Amino acid sequence: MGTRLDLLSREYLESPHPHLTALRHRGPVVQVDPGGMWVVTRHDEAQHVLKSTSLFSSQGLRVSAQPAWLQRVNPFAESLLFLDPPQHGRLRALVSRAFAPAALAQLEARLRVVARERVAGMMNQRNVDFVDAFAMPIPATVMGWLLGLDASLQQHFSRWASDLVTMGGVRPEDTGSMARYYRTLEEMERYFQGVLDERRSAPRDDMVSDLLRAQVGGVALTTPELMSFLFMLLVAGLETTVNLLSQCARVFAQHPELLLRLREDPTLIPRFVEETLRYEPSVMATLRLCTQDVTLAGVELPQGALVLVSLASAARDEKYFPDGDRFILEREGPPRLAFGHGPHFCLGAMLSRLEARVALEELVSSVERLEVRTEHIDWTASLIVRGPVTLPVELFASAPGQPRTARLA
Ligand code: HEM
Repeated sequence: MGTRLDLLSREYLESPHPHLTALRHRGPVVQVDPGGMWVVTRHDEAQHVLKSTSLFSSQGLRVSAQPAWLQRVNPFAESLLFLDPPQHGRLRALVSRAFAPAALAQLEARLRVVARERVAGMMNQRNVDFVDAFAMPIPATVMGWLLGLDASLQQHFSRWASDLVTMGGVRPEDTGSMARYYRTLEEMERYFQGVLDERRSAPRDDMVSDLLRAQVGGVALTTPELMSFLFMLLVAGLETTVNLLSQCARVFAQHPELLLRLREDPTLIPRFVEETLRYEPSVMATLRLCTQDVTLAGVELPQGALVLVSLASAARDEKYFPDGDRFILEREGPPRLAFGHGPHFCLGAMLSRLEARVALEELVSSVERLEVRTEHIDWTASLIVRGPVTLPVELFASAPGQPRTARLA
């Protein structure tokens, strides 16, 4: 390969895996564009970078959320995702308890009702945009519950989250998009400020009220800290799970036999979710900044170099995932990196697994076949997350008289 691969090029965004395979074959650490960043292509090195926080700082992620053209603070870029130990640990401890298993168990029954209604709605229409009809509303409803947000604003949440993950990929000439991103940040701040004011005067049983009461070392969180939490949770909780559910639908369309297997035996659904996360990860990569000159797998990286840890490439590393371009339900292998590794390991991993399991249990109990009804998919233009912007599908119910999988309670 003579020229450097551009990870924001249409060619890459549409079909990243062959490019990542080529990079992996070139070596564990390869230079790409934009900006001459270094891609870490293999599982072992990816894991090493993610746990070595003193060498590889999460400040690297700021290029995606606080791009040079943005002449104001993006509260998202101030959140714990972008902090290194020890500051990171203090803030993480505060939000962790909201994701404890006991808190999540309470969500399952309500979640199932929403998923069942959504499936029924899709079956009535038969031809739907899967993102809009199913993949987005489920996590948006859950985030609404968690943060105590107004469910009628779901459409805004999804636009906000998607703007926040794509703003790092804006081309210098695209001033129209930049103006939109400024408006989004202002709208989000106005909305969240309103939520904070309301909860201050009338606390509820939700995460926002919890955060307002929370203290770090005897000191309450400041308004900018609270604001950055809300920005981060909305982005982290929405776009990622929307993409996971959409990718599950694509796998069903590519492998109709898998959908039938899951209908026969819904206990296979968690395995299916894990293999989807490996095969088509919702979070393709994360970014780190070298805090000093460092040698990684024999490649010398200068202080300040930007390192893109490709979770998508690590998930097809031939050393651990033979025949990695195939979706294999029974696949074994080392712990995956889809939810990260080390101190920043995803706080929402258990929640999104729960959402995906319940959503798919409901989906497969009613749908026998799912076909994608488009030749061309537009993908999120981001270095970090990947998913279809829309996914037109046609859904087929079980034929009359044919035995159907028992509905789950
Ligand atoms: C398929 C779904 C999801 C995937 C693939 C995913 C993936 C990730 C990854 C890879 C990281 C680590 C990033 C890094 O090291 O730079 C992360 C962090 C995080 N995720 Fe998720 N995530 C998902 C869903 C969620 C959900 C539903 C929530 C919350 C509602 C959430 C909240 C978080 C938070 C708060 C962090 C930051 C943790 C920290 O910095 O300590 N995620 N996620």
